[in-house]
Amino acid sequence: MSEGLLRLVTHTSENRSLRKEALCPGIMPSLPNPDKIIFFINGRKVTEENADPETPLLHYVRTFHHLTGTKYACGSGACGACTVMVSRYDPKTKKIHHYPATACLLPVGSLHGAAVTTVEGVGSIKTRIHPVQERLAKCHGTQCGFCSPGMVMSIYTLLRNHPEPTPEQVTEALGGNLCRCTGYRPIVESGKTFCVKSTVCQMKGSGKCCMDQEESSCVNKPEKICTKLYDENEFQPFDPTQEPIFPPELIRMAEDPNKRRLTFQGTKTTWIIPVTLDDLLELKITFPSAPIIMGNTAVGPSIKFKDAFYPVFISPVGLPELCFADATDSGGVTIGAGYSLAQLTDTLLFTISEQPKEKTQTHRALLKHLRTLAGLQIRNIATLGGHVVSRPNYSDLNPILAAGNATINLRSKDGERQIAINGQFLERVPEADLKSEEIVLSVNIPYSTQWEFVAGLRQAQRQENAFAIVNAGMSVTFEEGTNTIKDLKMFYGSVGPTVASAPETCKELTGRQWNDQMLSDACRLVLAEIHIPPDAEGGMVEYRRTLIISLLFKFYLKVKRGLNKIDPQKFPDIPEKFVSALEDFPIETPQGLQMFQCVDPHQSPQDPVGHPVMHKSAIKHTTGEAVYCDDIPPVADELFLAVVTSTRAHAKIMSIDTSEVLAHPGVVDVVTAEDVPGDNNHSGEVLYAQNKVICVGQIVCTVAADTYLHAKEAAKKVKIAYEDIEPRIITIEQALEHNSFLSGEKKIEQGNIDEAFKHVDHIIEGEVHVEGQEHFYMETQSILAIPKQEDKEMVLHLGTQFPTHVQEFVAGALNIPRNRVECCMRRAGGAFGGKVSKPSLLGAVCAVAANKTGRPIRFILERGDDMLITAGRHPLYCKYKIGFMENGVIKAADVEYYVNGGCTPDESEMVVEFLVLKSENAYHIPNFRCRGRPCKTNLPSNTAFRGFGYPQATVVVEAYINTVAAHCNLLPEEVKEINMFKKLSKTAYGQTFNPEPLRRCWKECLEKSSFHARKQAAEEFNQKNYWKKRGLAVIPMKYTIGIPISFYNQAAALVHIYLDGSVMVIHGGCEIGQGLYTKMIQVASRELNIPESYIHSNGTSTVAVPNAVFTAGSMGTDANGRAVQNACQILMARLQPIIRENPEGKWEEWITKAFAESISLSATGYFKGYQTNMDWEKGKGEAFPYFVYGAACSEVEVDCLTGAHKLLRTDIFMDAAFSINPAIDIGQVEGAFIQGMGLYTIEELKYSPEGVLLSRGPDDYQIPTVTEIPEEIYVTLVHSQNPIAIYSSKGLGEAGMFLGSSVLFAIYDAVTAARKERGLTKIFPMNSPVTPELIRMTCMDQFTDMIPRDDPSTFTPWSIHVS
Ligand SMILES: Cc1cc2nc3c(=O)[nH]c(=O)nc-3n(C[C@H](O)[C@H](O)[C@H](O)COP(=O)(O)OP(=O)(O)OC[C@H]3O[C@@H](n4cnc5c(N)ncnc54)[C@H](O)[C@@H]3O)c2cc1C
Ligand code: FES
Ligand code: FES
Repeated sequence: MSEGLLRLVTHTSENRSLRKEALCPGIMPSLPNPDKIIFFINGRKVTEENADPETPLLHYVRTFHHLTGTKYACGSGACGACTVMVSRYDPKTKKIHHYPATACLLPVGSLHGAAVTTVEGVGSIKTRIHPVQERLAKCHGTQCGFCSPGMVMSIYTLLRNHPEPTPEQVTEALGGNLCRCTGYRPIVESGKTFCVKSTVCQMKGSGKCCMDQEESSCVNKPEKICTKLYDENEFQPFDPTQEPIFPPELIRMAEDPNKRRLTFQGTKTTWIIPVTLDDLLELKITFPSAPIIMGNTAVGPSIKFKDAFYPVFISPVGLPELCFADATDSGGVTIGAGYSLAQLTDTLLFTISEQPKEKTQTHRALLKHLRTLAGLQIRNIATLGGHVVSRPNYSDLNPILAAGNATINLRSKDGERQIAINGQFLERVPEADLKSEEIVLSVNIPYSTQWEFVAGLRQAQRQENAFAIVNAGMSVTFEEGTNTIKDLKMFYGSVGPTVASAPETCKELTGRQWNDQMLSDACRLVLAEIHIPPDAEGGMVEYRRTLIISLLFKFYLKVKRGLNKIDPQKFPDIPEKFVSALEDFPIETPQGLQMFQCVDPHQSPQDPVGHPVMHKSAIKHTTGEAVYCDDIPPVADELFLAVVTSTRAHAKIMSIDTSEVLAHPGVVDVVTAEDVPGDNNHSGEVLYAQNKVICVGQIVCTVAADTYLHAKEAAKKVKIAYEDIEPRIITIEQALEHNSFLSGEKKIEQGNIDEAFKHVDHIIEGEVHVEGQEHFYMETQSILAIPKQEDKEMVLHLGTQFPTHVQEFVAGALNIPRNRVECCMRRAGGAFGGKVSKPSLLGAVCAVAANKTGRPIRFILERGDDMLITAGRHPLYCKYKIGFMENGVIKAADVEYYVNGGCTPDESEMVVEFLVLKSENAYHIPNFRCRGRPCKTNLPSNTAFRGFGYPQATVVVEAYINTVAAHCNLLPEEVKEINMFKKLSKTAYGQTFNPEPLRRCWKECLEKSSFHARKQAAEEFNQKNYWKKRGLAVIPMKYTIGIPISFYNQAAALVHIYLDGSVMVIHGGCEIGQGLYTKMIQVASRELNIPESYIHSNGTSTVAVPNAVFTAGSMGTDANGRAVQNACQILMARLQPIIRENPEGKWEEWITKAFAESISLSATGYFKGYQTNMDWEKGKGEAFPYFVYGAACSEVEVDCLTGAHKLLRTDIFMDAAFSINPAIDIGQVEGAFIQGMGLYTIEELKYSPEGVLLSRGPDDYQIPTVTEIPEEIYVTLVHSQNPIAIYSSKGLGEAGMFLGSSVLFAIYDAVTAARKERGLTKIFPMNSPVTPELIRMTCMDQFTDMIPRDDPSTFTPWSIHVS
């Protein structure tokens, strides 16, 4: 991502004081001879005289060193895509310290004296591939590959420090890296190959590997089942002694006895590295407002996202006086402010190993929170001093430090003093704060005493690398030998603008006994004292209130147990049923097994079809050599584009004032609707808003400038005046009120629904809400548009699933024929449906700018803009009425769906068609009516997303099945079994199918997962545990691939054979990480009967393959495979006479001969497409070519007090028919499952009531990390027949998504158990996602009863649901 080099003064209230300093030239240091930043990148010395020191390393290495392996995906330190290894020499210990760091938060100035290793420095195809890179690739740990360099760097750095890591270290090392494709399991597995004893597939401590066991006990393997997706024997050995040495020059620099203060001068800022503590204190007097820049993890984001500006930075990183740890037997541990949080962890670990347990309660509590605080990349750069001083309101450490009576040692020129980390300090009361000339020298963490208890508690949307929703640090000291409270401390994070304390509550309770009455009073008091207003920022108000007392209760139990441990006679223990409430869920290293059909032993060894062939770009992914759009080297004269988007949901544009913009440095032009020579409104999709805006996030204009930062800064100066238009429609409810729809109703119906309802035992009616989902592809939308000098030609490079569509939009916008527009697509860093239609709009926006300026335009969306502009999965609202018999047989269902389509048509109508057609899922309901309609709202237009409506629609089906089961007092699985398709059947729209594979998947899933035995065990667990509950669910699936319109299923390919025998395969499909190109090479290899190594594919383009349809709907391999097959077969037919003549000849000889005989060695292949149709008038059709079946069983454990859940195990059975590439197919199944699990559990978009998307980055929108995936995952590809598809395969790209709902329903199963025990038998709504908030608030109890509730009519909430 392009970051500029300049920072400008901005006018926010937050930085007004800083601005004053900036405007006062007198206080800038005079710089006759500024110093040079000296550091190493990949072993090469870099001496920077002119770089702006605050420039993030990510931008620096990508732009100035063309090291594009380090990726931008968020810019906020939260995704790990930009991970690099930083190495420093410590002259005190004489040791070299290697640590991972996020390059997007590392200012270049902070790297003086450091050695940086990027993925290119680890290994490359040109030189030598490192074992980490090789194994990640060979273990199938890459799909789109965009996260892979970051993954490599995390594992590589771990190995530099621990050449034989433990599995736990591997999991921890990956905790800060997001991957949206793989589901993490193969990535962890690749890391585990370095562990002392490879623990791949070691089943639950048995130490036995399923792969090695003929008679494996863990899963009953049927005949001819393979479990090896790669061969460990092929891995090159890892020799840690072969790593590059640390540059001796840096050692000399670090040991230089004559070190002096260094000053780096940038264009706008000055970076000063003090040489001693005294020097630092001196600087603090000279520049009182200058930040002390340590990890930059608080300052960096404030500059980037909050427009803070600092003219001077003081950077004492590594100053010995700040980097130390001292422990005394009495006074606790004193830790230097310069210690990173990782060093803090090491120190605390040492302390707890040395000291008795009762003395180290604070230290243990801190350690617990440190394990999940951000990822290791952040923990290695963020410092204790920075954390304590920046005092984030969500701080995980400060509440514990305060509860543990920690103090801060301050130093200034005037001397030393101590201040307490207490309520006043955390609440930023000026008298309790640092003075501007003071710095934090260290923090003292005292030991706890025998009669003192300290704990840290937290709950976040996901377990690791997520800010707490609420956290707490609490301590209590008792009068010796009693349970009388002598001192009580309570601190809460994320409950207000600062960490909050509850001094009145604590005072009131002092002197009380630690008993239930005290607890009850404590809850009442603390709720009164810590008030979260109903419209509080962050929302989840009632949940947060509940957490305040739920966490308190947890503390209460912990202390009670602690007292009992001291004196069991005097202090009663907590009830046995409550014990499990004490502990948080552990972080386990995931493990699993993948099973698939073995290749027929008679198949030619050269034929790769059916083998788990590695992704063809995998090694390039892991070495960082795979080129994504923004990795394309700069094009001469290129400009960068920044967008200006609407801030109103529905308004007239009164004026657009760009007068200040053009005067901004570097700005070349501003582009508006008036600059579109052709179509600004293409089929209802508006490129640049004209006259009015219809959602927040609509593009109003763009600014083209010489750097991205110039464009971005200038874009802020565009002034747009609006006048709101009524109505403003944000939610489906509002759309229904206003009769606002994007298209008409779609309906299917069978039987006689009205009649059927008259003859059923029971009728239930209900509603289900399913919220939307952000694609969160790791590579944001990226486009490079290059105008050609001749004939108005325009070439676009971009990551898209539909180059033809981009071509159509661009041609329309520029008013030129499509033959002047070339769209090239090599690969996309993830897509998931989000790159079907949106790149067309953005491509046209970009092409208009390129056309106007006459210069190439690079248009890379920042993560926040991408999330805002491109929208995602459709939120859904459903009303249902179900008629059923006492025995669970469902006789009638009447279902009405509405989706929130947003402000333009996009693909909403088609999404509704799909969800209606797929809405019966695996169940035969003889009288069935389903209707659906897309609502038009003033939200950004929602679009295609893996599963295309099905994952939302079928949650409703499972929800009403569950409700029926509850009414009939049956297990949901029993009702599913009763109503499931069993024999040759017809869908509700009249298409015949054989559900035999569905039955097989279902049965095998129940059996192999030992569902009934585990369900029984879960019930026993639930009886013994009041606050933790387990739940299981099995979900069957009948999925369809393809499109009910035949021409959308067509595909074309172009196969060239060159005279050396090498082959080029081009087709219209796009490589978006799903391994399409790999499979196509497998197909061509089989058809041409040549090794895969002869065949190459280098992307697709509208010039090579015209009019290609989108790569979506799980159809990529089906359609393109047949086209490639066709082309190859044409070529082979041409070659046949030559082969017949010389059957023993070599391929190369045949080719030479063919050329000599003037036989064309190039052929186009074509697949007409599956013949599908749907007559919506009649509601009947042969809508889909075939069905994909599956089943999944998941087991979870839920913490009823916090709403946390842990996914214990998942078993997936997927009907793959014959898998062309089991590694790729299993990768798709697992990846989709985890993405589905995210949709149904933790991924939550937040909108303001005004229609503003509030969740615009990985901090606010959490996708699953390595900690969320099942502790155990078993995937089986079930063999069946599918003669219609190439090699009898099936398209598996999307199907796994819905199986993620097994987690949702397992959670509901656990929640139901909790509710039952609390006497709550009323059936509750099952909405999605089932977030920690929803879980906690549904497990109602005395705490949820206790919290204050607000009258919704009296306030405007911070966020609303839009489904
Ligand atoms: C992606 C991400 C995830 C995070 N997740 C969590 C989380 O889950 N939980 C959590 O609690 N925190 C989290 N954080 C916050 C993180 O812990 C803090 O940002 C960090 O500890 C600040 O330390 P730093 O060294 O980077 O500070 P810097 O940004 O370098 O400095 C911060 C401030 O401290 C001042 N300062 C620094 N050192 C001193 C000193 N010695 N004396 C006086 N002033 C000083 C500076 O002047 C500056 O104002 C996260 C941050 C990021 C980026
Ligand atoms: S881009 Fe740096 S962490 Fe995401
Ligand atoms: S492979 Fe990890 S994000 Fe695509």
